[in-house]
Amino acid sequence: MILFFTGTGNSEYAARRIGRAVGETPVSLAPRLRTGDVSPLESGTPWVFCAPTYAWRMPRVVSEHIAATELRGNKDVYFVLTCGGDTGNAEKYCRRLCEEKGMRFRGLAPIVMPENYIAMFSAPAEDEARRVIAAADPKIDAAAELIRSGADLPPVKKSPLAGLLSAAVNKGFYASAIKDSKYYSTDACVSCGLCAESCPLGNITMKDGRPVWGGKCTQCMSCICRCPAEAIEFGTKSAGKRRYVCPEV
Ligand SMILES: Cc1cc2nc3c(=O)[nH]c(=O)nc-3n(C[C@H](O)[C@H](O)[C@H](O)COP(=O)(O)O)c2cc1C
Repeated sequence: MILFFTGTGNSEYAARRIGRAVGETPVSLAPRLRTGDVSPLESGTPWVFCAPTYAWRMPRVVSEHIAATELRGNKDVYFVLTCGGDTGNAEKYCRRLCEEKGMRFRGLAPIVMPENYIAMFSAPAEDEARRVIAAADPKIDAAAELIRSGADLPPVKKSPLAGLLSAAVNKGFYASAIKDSKYYSTDACVSCGLCAESCPLGNITMKDGRPVWGGKCTQCMSCICRCPAEAIEFGTKSAGKRRYVCPEV
């Protein structure tokens, strides 16, 4: 079973491409995350989790959901983490998660995709984004082929700082940056509700035609990037920045 979490479409793109190669239709984790549904899942084929990289690890909402969910049937687990640059030492934590669940860790594929974290950095222009995605395609395909044939994914090459980034920096990042208190909508808001509909955590409600954030945000960038009126901002960080949604999904 291929399960994906996405804010702006990159990880869904990777999941769909792998799905085509292995003959499976990927399933979004969003409905389960929105409702807190941790009922058991069952799969006869290996588990493939596709997600973005947040602070050099799998997003906590995803790892906590996997930890809380009984995975029945097949014992093999693959991870495909899309990222803007690198996944640090994410592999270690995915391996540990598998060990704790009595599952077999079969490897992690880091896939460089366009950067989407516009609350801190900038997203590439569309032509550059398409170039980055085209460069990612063979890497996704190589991972898909290994998954299809039941092989391990190769070990991830790590920078000397990877351990620190995925441990202390990840912890500090969650404590300081993962919050929704700086989101607001401008008068450009057209009250369409797409921000609320597309939030994978169900964290946004519409009040008097405007979005209200509920405090369980994971900074996935879905609301700010998918708003058709570009009416959502994050403090002073996002003003004038290009919004990013994967152009291939
Ligand atoms: C909160 C946040 C943290 C991020 N941290 C990292 C990171 O540590 N390393 C990295 O290479 N990219 C990082 N990124 C970039 C995303 O992982 C990357 O753009 C990913 O492909 C987005 O996937 P999605 O479109 O499926 O949401 C971060 C993005 C966000 C929003």
